[in-house]
Amino acid sequence: MKSIGRCRAHTNIALIKYWGKRNEELFLPMNSSLSLTLDAFYTDTEVTLDSTLDSDVFFLDNVKQGDKETAKITNFLNLFRNRANIETKACIKSYNHVPTAAGLASSASAFSALAGATNQATGLNLDLKTLSTLARQGSGSATRSIYGGFVEWFMGESDLSESSFAIPVDDATWDIGMIVIAVNTGRKKLSSRVGMKQTIDTSPFYSSWVETATKDIEKIKKAISEKDFITLGEITESNGMKMHATMLGAFPPISYWEPDSVKAIQKVKEIRDMGLPCYVTMDAGPNVKVLCKRSDMIEIENKLLEDFTRDQIIPSSVGEGIKLLSQD
Ligand code: DP6
Repeated sequence: MKSIGRCRAHTNIALIKYWGKRNEELFLPMNSSLSLTLDAFYTDTEVTLDSTLDSDVFFLDNVKQGDKETAKITNFLNLFRNRANIETKACIKSYNHVPTAAGLASSASAFSALAGATNQATGLNLDLKTLSTLARQGSGSATRSIYGGFVEWFMGESDLSESSFAIPVDDATWDIGMIVIAVNTGRKKLSSRVGMKQTIDTSPFYSSWVETATKDIEKIKKAISEKDFITLGEITESNGMKMHATMLGAFPPISYWEPDSVKAIQKVKEIRDMGLPCYVTMDAGPNVKVLCKRSDMIEIENKLLEDFTRDQIIPSSVGEGIKLLSQD
């Protein structure tokens, strides 16, 4: 017997960052975070529950994955199998329309799409809120990719898994865009998981980070509700920089930046000083993301082309939440 689910999820970029877990097993974060879902980067995943299989099989971009990668997927599928009270193994095929592990949050779209596809294949029919708590247990940032637009991920309470979920805050259909400057799309050297733990354990700035991120969430939600782009951008840029400063305070220090990251940041500041509002944010990799107005995107791209190649500049409009793909 076979049962299939197919789902697409877009990646998201945090404007207020998640950097640290208070419970590693359940992926419960130290602070709430807020993101923008992007249209240009996504993952399509098909899950086929197949009673003739002896173990799960996982293909990423048509390449069969090894035991370590497959074990992560198996653990994740078990969250659904336990709820559905089944043991049927699955064949999982994922196609990433994201440069994998380049700091472009591919795990966010990956686990969110996997959650949606498995929900359909198992027939569990879980609601989006519950799906976000399950996606979280694959990768924290995946919690937010369940929805489109601006999304908040609540930190939740104590060790209660069901209290830490995402909600859509605003559909971001008011002149919002993002340009990714791909500085280096190779695999990142230090995973977010390890980087976060090292930061919590050793950075003397960590408690201030949690405090300031908590305040930033409130400020950014106000800016979003007032459609105040300048304040939105200023808080975004400031929050990202504070996260990276906190990492630099770790021992050994953590930096995901490369010389071209600094070049990109300086260029964005130059463009801003010319009167085009645009603001940077960076994640666990060297690439720089530029939050801007969608209506300014072409002009900003042209300025960036003075210092970067066409391939390095990837514009995106705002993305939607997960959606099931047709079965044919
Ligand atoms: C810097 O979600 O990749 O992009 O939960 O360990 O899988 P795990 O980490 P992940 O971390 C994302 C960190 C970030 C900030 C963010 O997206 O909020």
